[in-house]
Amino acid sequence: MKVYNTIVELKDALFELRRQGCCVGLVPTMGALHAGHASLVGRSVRENAVTVVSIFVNPTQFNDKTDLATYPRTLDADCALLGEIESKAELSTLLVFAPTAEEMYPTPDTRRFEYPPVSTVMEGAHRPGHFNGVCQVVSKLFYIVEPQRAYFGEKDYQQIAVVKAMVRDLGLGVEIVECPIVRESSGLAMSSRNSRLTDAERLTAACIYKALTSSVDYARTHTVGETHDSVVSEINAVDGLEVEYFSIVDAATLQDISSWDEPAAGAVGCITVYCGTRHVRLIDHIRYV
Ligand code: PAF
Repeated sequence: MKVYNTIVELKDALFELRRQGCCVGLVPTMGALHAGHASLVGRSVRENAVTVVSIFVNPTQFNDKTDLATYPRTLDADCALLGEIESKAELSTLLVFAPTAEEMYPTPDTRRFEYPPVSTVMEGAHRPGHFNGVCQVVSKLFYIVEPQRAYFGEKDYQQIAVVKAMVRDLGLGVEIVECPIVRESSGLAMSSRNSRLTDAERLTAACIYKALTSSVDYARTHTVGETHDSVVSEINAVDGLEVEYFSIVDAATLQDISSWDEPAAGAVGCITVYCGTRHVRLIDHIRYV
């Protein structure tokens, strides 16, 4: 499995593979790979002759400098995990693209991406500039790799909606493949940020998914507002957890709903919680109907 650090080298390799008729899948990541990423890569390997896994901690999507500085970087372990996947993949080629920030941004990226209503609520409101940075890097990766398909985890529910809006807006013609959340046995959604939790904090963090799943039953006999408040108070009652926001929204527009009958596409509860002494920011969501 070859690791490419420059755009020119990666494009040369892809040009040759495409000339041979290979279909290309892209799995964009920020590294610190876990079983959730492995499931995205596994799916791309099954569906495409060539899979590019990008590993790049994208500075433009971090509105918090400490979050950027402490984001886990584990390139050797990431390559070892991808090597294992590649050794089991029979007819598929795996390429890793691990550029530097200078390679991706030789000049500051001044492009602005806004896709209201989906980009302005929830993460968009709490992390100003975050989705702009995500669109900057994902669009660059799409231009560089020119994939037929790109694989994203459903954990980042809003990110998928924003990326789909960008693909439509720019006419990029990339199929966005949504892959289910992979959970630890406790129910905690897998995330690179989980590696910053102690064992005890991981157990505590599992209460997030417990509260979300039990709220599905509760929602059958309670209003949207009551369901919202019960999830927030259940999680905030756990020592070491603090809800940043919990929004029950229309699954398609991501706008707040006030009644369960409102959204034609169904309702989703999206949550962000700070966990533990290092205030690790965890996100998750649940479908209601
Ligand atoms: O979901 C992520 O890990 C990142 O937002 C992405 C899509 C790799 C862009 O940096």
